[in-house]
Amino acid sequence: MSIDLSPIDKAKFVAAKRAAQYVESGMKVGLGTGSTASWLVKCLGEMVRDDGLKIQGVPTSSRTAALAREVGIEVISLDEAKWLDICIDGADEFDPNLNLIKGGGGAHLQEKIVATASDQMIVITDASKSVETLGAFPLPLEVIPFGWQTTKTIVEEALVGMDVLGRNVSLRMNGDAPYVTDEGNHILDLHLNRIGNARQLSLVLNQIPGVVENGLFIDICDAVVIGYGDGRAEVR
Ligand code: 5RP
Repeated sequence: MSIDLSPIDKAKFVAAKRAAQYVESGMKVGLGTGSTASWLVKCLGEMVRDDGLKIQGVPTSSRTAALAREVGIEVISLDEAKWLDICIDGADEFDPNLNLIKGGGGAHLQEKIVATASDQMIVITDASKSVETLGAFPLPLEVIPFGWQTTKTIVEEALVGMDVLGRNVSLRMNGDAPYVTDEGNHILDLHLNRIGNARQLSLVLNQIPGVVENGLFIDICDAVVIGYGDGRAEVR
């Protein structure tokens, strides 16, 4: 694979390449979504083609499924797999406890289901996603289209009692239309700036009718592989 990349892409590639070493023949592998996860899928595709690696992949989005098939990875559904050996995915933020914000690419619902059904979840990232406290990145909230404006109002009311610094909620758009996820839902982005108690916030948000899943991954990630533009990789 050509490594003539910008420093940020090099960092993502390096993280993906390092994390691909966790994958062994016979494994069922959760395949994340996003630009960093795409590198992982390409690396695994190369290992399937050139090194005889035999894996079954469970993609976390239609985009990843298409790429996995394109690079020659056998794709199966989560229900066919039942349980996975490993899941490797990107993240929008990770904190010192390896709690995450995910869903910048709009796929956190399937990503959370797949990561939760895996023996281990490895996050691949560049160093810019490291934060002391989650929340600078807007927290994605997948909501069903029915009554989404009412759901938004209830979310805003719920945020009043939460330990957060901002409370602005916006509907994610795709051009002039609301963004639609693989499950046919919409996404509200919660501009919170700082999340004081991510566990509590996650529980409160998921109790609101109309909310399908939030992008907080608490106690799900086992390790973070950080890639750097100079070719180094660090595991936390
Ligand atoms: C998609 C995600 C992605 O993993 C996250 O947005 C990171 O993406 P990228 O690797 O492109 O920065 O959660 O829903």
